[in-house]
Amino acid sequence: NILILDFGSQYTQLIARRVRELNIYCEIKPYNKIPEDLSEFKAVILSGSPFSVRHEDAPTPDLSQIKGKLPLLGICYGAQHLIQKQGGSVEASNTREFGRAHLQDIKRDNPLFDGIHSGSQVWMSHSDSIKSLPDNVHRIASTEDVEMAAFQFDNEQTYGIQFHPEVYHTTDGLALLENFLVKIAQVPQDWTPAKFVDMTVADLKKTVGNQKVVLGLSGGVDSSVAAVLLHKAIGKNLYCIFVNNGLLRKFEFEDVLEQYKDMGLNVKGVDAAERFLTALKDIKDPEEKRKRIGNAFIEVFDDEAHQIKDVTYLAQGTIYPDVIESVSVNGPSVTIKSHHNVGGLPEYMKLKVVEPLKMLFKDEVRRVGSELGISPLLLGRHPFPGPGLAIRILDDITPEKVSILQEVDYIFIKALRDWDLYDKVWQAGAMLLPVHSVGVMGDERTYEKVVALRAVESTDGMTADWVDLPYKFLQNVSNKIINQVKGVNRVVYDISSKPPSTIEWE
Ligand code: XMP
Repeated sequence: NILILDFGSQYTQLIARRVRELNIYCEIKPYNKIPEDLSEFKAVILSGSPFSVRHEDAPTPDLSQIKGKLPLLGICYGAQHLIQKQGGSVEASNTREFGRAHLQDIKRDNPLFDGIHSGSQVWMSHSDSIKSLPDNVHRIASTEDVEMAAFQFDNEQTYGIQFHPEVYHTTDGLALLENFLVKIAQVPQDWTPAKFVDMTVADLKKTVGNQKVVLGLSGGVDSSVAAVLLHKAIGKNLYCIFVNNGLLRKFEFEDVLEQYKDMGLNVKGVDAAERFLTALKDIKDPEEKRKRIGNAFIEVFDDEAHQIKDVTYLAQGTIYPDVIESVSVNGPSVTIKSHHNVGGLPEYMKLKVVEPLKMLFKDEVRRVGSELGISPLLLGRHPFPGPGLAIRILDDITPEKVSILQEVDYIFIKALRDWDLYDKVWQAGAMLLPVHSVGVMGDERTYEKVVALRAVESTDGMTADWVDLPYKFLQNVSNKIINQVKGVNRVVYDISSKPPSTIEWE
């Protein structure tokens, strides 16, 4: 296990992902919450930070139990902190050093640079520079503008690098991390999906034993993988509930229910469409929609869970990005959209919570799902928001609007599959706009609705860009929609990136 101490850098999660890509397990902890017992950790990495080490509020962790005792790699802020603490000097750079640079003067016999050569591109993002090293530290690489690009403490496995090995623009970044973790710290590369499944199943057998667990399935990847994993561990004591909120895609409720049954899961499908649509009547405000859907979901789920006798656990498909306690260096972030309120269950349910995926990143969840034999079709599904089509109807919700949008969405998604584009897109869907426009069909004037198609590429939904779908494809889809869906006479394509837009329109 590797410990990553987080100083609040936007790249901290990326460090963890890179380490996991090397089949090495790691955990992120805030710099001020260093675990007391470090015996399970084989090496430590210090992240970057939005702070300057020269700032009086800059994070200063107590590394006395780590430095010189465990292999240690400081990245950017982490490196500067090590130097400053040791009496070296860190000063503001004359220019902000941001972007590409190239390694030179590499100390060839240092294992950190095994297989990495002069000229290798690295990514810089800092406004302070290390000006002088303490006596017991030596430089092991430079770049054209940064003399102390990498250093090592004498007779210690303590390293610092000014650049970011975790970002893709650092060409040999993964190799450098592998050198540090495998060659220097001698950590075994044995963190595999199969091992995760074995460990987690054994763990669930021990903690849950033969108690009953209830789980809300959404049709998405996370809850499905969590269900199959639990099913493997506790079999028939897992009770799954899949709620139709009336805001799902066309045929989704029936299709997904069928798929789950084929997987051997014990699933109860609950058709609560009317309840949700009633709760949403006349509501236009996006946050109010989310709140009402969240509440209705809790009520339905609570009713169903109470019908299972003696249930003690609630399972959730929470994944690692949701739980990382990043240091809040910029204060609490503002709520752009209240995603995580949906599905949050109230305390009064008095259920203990089990979250078997809470240490995994999304791509790892998919790999574990594949290890468990879940179909690639399910694992490759695009994300779909909990409040469903409600936040893609930019107006109050009526059964007619839901049905129009379901038809439009169905045509769009099916075409993406037919044109072999579905897997090239991270997420896609259609929005029903509160706008009527004039059209002409045959000799008739029409005055009907406008839909917007959205397809984005992304890795985690935090940032996204619109996909450059072929014009021929868009033309084909637009024709189909206008010809086949009554009530729509105009189709537009959304070409906004996130930020400044978001993926969903509400
Ligand atoms: P935005 O619109 O914030 O979406 O760019 C980012 C990702 O989150 C999904 N999303 C939601 N998921 N409940 C959810 O479970 C929500 O209220 C919600 N709002 C947005 C969105 O589909 C995209 O994948």
